[in-house]
Amino acid sequence: MERVTDISSLRKRLRKETSIAFVPTMGNLHEGHLSLVRTAKQYADCTVVSIFVNQLQFSPTEDYNKYPRTLEKDCALLKDINADVVFIPNEKILYPETQEFLLMLPPVAHILEGKYRPGFFRGVTTVVLKLFNIIQPQKAIFGKKDYQQLYIVDKMIKQLNLPVKIIACDTVRMHDGLAQSSRNCYLNENQRSESIRLYQTLYQIKKSVEDGNDNFKMLQDNAIKNMIQHNWKVDYITIRQRSTLEPAVFNENNNNLIVLGAAWLDDIRLIDNIEIHT
Ligand code: PAF
Repeated sequence: MERVTDISSLRKRLRKETSIAFVPTMGNLHEGHLSLVRTAKQYADCTVVSIFVNQLQFSPTEDYNKYPRTLEKDCALLKDINADVVFIPNEKILYPETQEFLLMLPPVAHILEGKYRPGFFRGVTTVVLKLFNIIQPQKAIFGKKDYQQLYIVDKMIKQLNLPVKIIACDTVRMHDGLAQSSRNCYLNENQRSESIRLYQTLYQIKKSVEDGNDNFKMLQDNAIKNMIQHNWKVDYITIRQRSTLEPAVFNENNNNLIVLGAAWLDDIRLIDNIEIHT
């Protein structure tokens, strides 16, 4: 596995490759990321993983400074699973000057995560577009854990005619259902045992809808009430259409729905989602 830190060396290294699959990350890799890399390996001869904590997608009140940085451990994990190239640019390499060209994002980027984290998707799409331009992969692998991110990047690719195909991978969960996330390392022992409530709550909603309950408002309200009773602060728990991320409307064929949630356990914000199959 080769480590590359600058753009010209990376381009030189990748010039000879005929097929590239790319996994963008912010490091602190866990089993979820590793499953993306394993998937990437099935789709191309060369797998490139980037590790870059992208300040542009953090608001000033968020955890950019304390975001876990575990570069040596990450590289050892990637070497173990035979990633080919790891691209580790620093701030000056990716943003040598103030990033003034920014995308104008569609309304879907201003709901759910976009509502609670203004600027987040602008930061994500900017860095992802830059990384696509630098690496020029044919495939890019994203996890469903960040469902709205996956949706928006896919839309960007289509509307900007980028020659990249997204491969979406299922969320990897711990034994009790907690979605793997780099931010799980913030959880203390008590918070860790409470943390599964978000997944359990979303799972109950999924089951109820699959069992024929179409009172979405009641399901959402009860779920939020229950989380609040257990001292969570809920940003949203909502049933949406997978094709638009607009609020779900009941119809005979409810096989295109998803339940998404974001909530705070003390000062730790967790997100999760589950697709609903009726
Ligand atoms: O999902 C992430 O880790 C980040 O949002 C991404 C896609 C690497 C962009 O910084």
